[in-house]
Amino acid sequence: MARPKKDFSPKKEQEQKSIVKAILEPRPKISITQVTNIAADAKAVLEAVRQVMLEPFPRKLPPEFTTNQVADLCEMTKSEFKSAEISIESTRGKVKSSDNYKSYTLKETIELIKLIGKLPPLPKKKQGKVIAVASYKGGVGKTTISVSLAQALTLRGLKVLFIDLDPQGSATTLFGISPEVEVQYEETIMPFIYQDEPDLMYAVQNTYWDFLDLIPASSEVLGAEYILPANASKEGYVFWDQLNQGIKPLRDIYDVIVLDTSPSLGYLTQNAMAMADGILTPCPLEALDFASLTQFYGVFTEISSLLPGYFEDKKFDFIGVIINKAKLEKDDFTTGNIIKSWIKNSFKEYLWDVIIPDSKIPKETTSQLKTIFDLSYDEVKSTAYKRFREPLDKLADQVLLELYEAWKRG
Ligand SMILES: Nc1ncnc2c1ncn2[C@@H]1O[C@H](COP(=O)(O)OP(=O)(O)O)[C@@H](O)[C@H]1O
Ligand SMILES: [Mg+2]
Repeated sequence: MARPKKDFSPKKEQEQKSIVKAILEPRPKISITQVTNIAADAKAVLEAVRQVMLEPFPRKLPPEFTTNQVADLCEMTKSEFKSAEISIESTRGKVKSSDNYKSYTLKETIELIKLIGKLPPLPKKKQGKVIAVASYKGGVGKTTISVSLAQALTLRGLKVLFIDLDPQGSATTLFGISPEVEVQYEETIMPFIYQDEPDLMYAVQNTYWDFLDLIPASSEVLGAEYILPANASKEGYVFWDQLNQGIKPLRDIYDVIVLDTSPSLGYLTQNAMAMADGILTPCPLEALDFASLTQFYGVFTEISSLLPGYFEDKKFDFIGVIINKAKLEKDDFTTGNIIKSWIKNSFKEYLWDVIIPDSKIPKETTSQLKTIFDLSYDEVKSTAYKRFREPLDKLADQVLLELYEAWKRG
């Protein structure tokens, strides 16, 4: 094959000359006023986009449930469920004219789970527990797992608050809200971080999913990394304890508060870890993911040792490493199984028996701004669906067990 010839065309020479000319021409520096103008223009464009997107902005809708699904969620056979419905004279559910089957809204489903489900009642005098889903790395499944867990816990009768602590707002997006277009500064944790609000109560909003409320995030939340250390100069202020103070009144309202965090151990994630009663760290079966999991706990304990009061007094209700995106084969010598044995040897009982497989389902659902729990009955019949959903249910069951245990301890 002939070697490509060098291009000495006149056009190139022309370009060369114009670059030389451009280099020789003086150009003024950029002032902050100019940058301010750029920012103002960009904000105006964003506002225009926002107006267009809001009218009419498609809101997410929760799925409907079949009788079989509700009976399963109540841990009953279909006939047990039907008698239980009669015994409480429930009028919930509507017979669909299309196929004569009964279907229940999410709200009706959760009400039935609470009324006739077989789970033991929650202790009356309990405080809401905080679960932080965290890791050093992005892309390990924090957002997928935290949003799915929050939904799954409502389907076990719990009232849940979700706080998005990641400035990227991916979880907020999964709730059907566009972080950059729809989330204003006042709706995030930021006014509380600036200490303009006494706690986080102001920021709670309802979502399309019953019994699941949200404090959303946007890139405004990035500011927390500057404001939290700046606050530390104030007398009596403890920089790692601010979020903990902010959620105190919310622990009286919610059974569980799920935190999705950014892939870092910055000030905000440190606050999340400090106030968490339970920590979940997802880890794919890759050597680098294992390394960063190890690093995460190493750095966390190192930081903790520098926090007076915290290191001595803090006690977690649970810590769980969750294997995600697993490609496990029968052969024990595949990379996946080898890395799993590393995690087992290092994290021992903290490695939970929950293995979420690498699956096409989250990719498909995320592209429609959905989690697996958003899918309706018609969409959930495939084996791939079951393979992905089962470990997420197992995770929610394990978390539920840990919560009952934690409430027993007081
Ligand atoms: N078990 C899984 N199998 C395949 N893809 C997954 C799985 N869990 C998560 N993902 C995908 O990986 C990407 C990153 O997940 P995400 O939950 O956003 O991670 P993080 O919050 O840790 O950055 C997303 O596209 C998500 O759909
Ligand atoms: Mg995320």
